[in-house]
Amino acid sequence: MVPPPRIDAVSHTGKRHAWAWPWLAAGLMAALPSHAGVPAKPARLGLCAACHGETGMAQIPGAPNLAGQKLDYLREALKQYRDGRRNVPLMRAAIGPMSDADLDELARWYSAQTPHPQGHP
Ligand code: HEC
Repeated sequence: MVPPPRIDAVSHTGKRHAWAWPWLAAGLMAALPSHAGVPAKPARLGLCAACHGETGMAQIPGAPNLAGQKLDYLREALKQYRDGRRNVPLMRAAIGPMSDADLDELARWYSAQTPHPQGHP
């Protein structure tokens, strides 16, 4: 755990420690217990998060909150955007040609989130 003092005395020790931080942080995050029933974070979530937030609380004006929305509703809405039945270019571009499985994963994620009040900056 604690590095020997000799190594600490070396001048580039600071760099070594800085290098270790991202790994340590990643390890901690992986070690955090996930809440029961909450699905794993979808791989495609990053893009959606720019507008809808990771937890489904909208980040930009005009984007709806998705947290806690009914699973069936979210899944159906995503398919509608993808298939063009909801013709919203923004959302269609965000979804692109995702598979049903991808959309299902995203719908499950947002549906499992708990809505929380937001501050208004
Ligand atoms: C550039 C911003 C942006 C991005 C990126 C984006 N969205 Fe949206 N999303 C919107 C806007 C704006 C709407 C409202 C569109 C409308 O009027 O139907 C919307 C609507 C939705 C809806 C319908 C909500 C409802 O109540 O009907 C869902 C579900 C949704 N987005 C999920 C996603 C997912 C999942 C992703 C990632 C694949 C994503 N969005 C990416 C802006 C965005």
